[in-house]
Amino acid sequence: MRLPSALRDSSLSVLLDGYAWMPDRRARTANGIVRTRLFGRPAVGLCGPEAARFFYDEAHVRRHGAIPEPVRATLFGKGAVHTLDGAAHRCRKELFLSLVTPERTAALAASVAAAWDETKWPPGRPVVLFDEASRVLTRGVCRWAGVPLADAEVDGLAADLVAMVDGFATAGPRHWRARAARRRQEDRFAGLVRGVRDGSVTAPEGSALMAVAGHRERDGESLSPRLAAVELLNVIRPTVAVCWFVAYAGHALHRWPEHRRRLAAGELVTEFVHEMRRFYPFAPFVAGHAVTDLTWRDERIPSGSLVLLDLWGHDHDARYWDEPFRFRPERFVDREIGEFELVPQGAGDPRVNHRCPGEPFTVAVLEALTPRLAALDHEVPDQDLTISLHRIPARVRSGMVVVPS
Ligand code: HEM
Repeated sequence: MRLPSALRDSSLSVLLDGYAWMPDRRARTANGIVRTRLFGRPAVGLCGPEAARFFYDEAHVRRHGAIPEPVRATLFGKGAVHTLDGAAHRCRKELFLSLVTPERTAALAASVAAAWDETKWPPGRPVVLFDEASRVLTRGVCRWAGVPLADAEVDGLAADLVAMVDGFATAGPRHWRARAARRRQEDRFAGLVRGVRDGSVTAPEGSALMAVAGHRERDGESLSPRLAAVELLNVIRPTVAVCWFVAYAGHALHRWPEHRRRLAAGELVTEFVHEMRRFYPFAPFVAGHAVTDLTWRDERIPSGSLVLLDLWGHDHDARYWDEPFRFRPERFVDREIGEFELVPQGAGDPRVNHRCPGEPFTVAVLEALTPRLAALDHEVPDQDLTISLHRIPARVRSGMVVVPS
């Protein structure tokens, strides 16, 4: 007997179907609302700017208790800002927002650019762009954050930070690597925080390390060293994850070489970066749970249901984007981007909701690195350039190999 979709648990289908799971399900409904069960709970999937406004209203959807343990134990860390609501969330969020000033953002981009410029690109030697970018970003962000890092430690830390992102939405070895990487790096970063507090480690004034070590919660208490490590990693880990987009940039410049000369000359750089964040797959959706019985477009959402907001689907929906499956940076020329329009990193106002505070970092770092990549004389040898939408997070299968000339 086949159960109606609202009664079937789709957890496995999400993992297997990946980014297209929600858009495909939505296409089969009359009103675009997906009803199913996930992780044993009733779940509702929504998409679009109005759905985003509804989802990001804390009177409707909250995060505490909605994020599955395998995601907390790999991607975010237990007790992270992602899992808080209300006043506790806003107080913790302030820690991140205090770091994302225009000056600190420019300093981060300059630090990452310097790390790229120091990298030797010997002619004729193939380079896996994804891996090289993860190391460049690790060096750049750690220097900026005041995190001491010996040259010999760069590869190991970069690999662990990538593993935490790569293994959050899968079972098997990739997931176990992610858990081990998080345990290792939480231990190490907690030790650093203890060192700052007892004076054995010097953190530069205004650095991210100093900020997490000194942060006070609403009750005036400091974060435990473990929680401070979780939040410091929540700055460093996603900054290193920008390597996904550096590899995508290599892919885009290869597929559409007409952008290469323009980008190297510094033209349409921001537009190229926004189009990469829109076009290429990374975060599939965000989730919370209904705080009370809700109604969305005449559909009842019972209290406690999981509510999913489809980010990838929104950024590829022909109702909001002209020819969404064409890579066209020009679409962003002279375009003011509304809070609920381009949503690869969430929607709304990051100061009051869960939208990613790191968008200025992401954009500034990619604005620094993509013209450098375009200016690097390189060939692209034969390789598997597939980007499977079944894999979360997606990535260029070969890692994007380039051969500098
Ligand atoms: C690689 C590019 C990035 C992508 C695709 C990305 C994506 C996202 C997404 C989808 C969310 C969840 C939004 C929500 O729950 O509503 C998020 C949250 C978050 N991101 Fe990013 N992000 C990126 C880079 C960064 C960077 C560079 C930072 C550094 C500060 C950062 C820090 C955070 C934090 C702390 C949160 C939790 C915010 C909260 O719960 O209030 N992210 N990000």
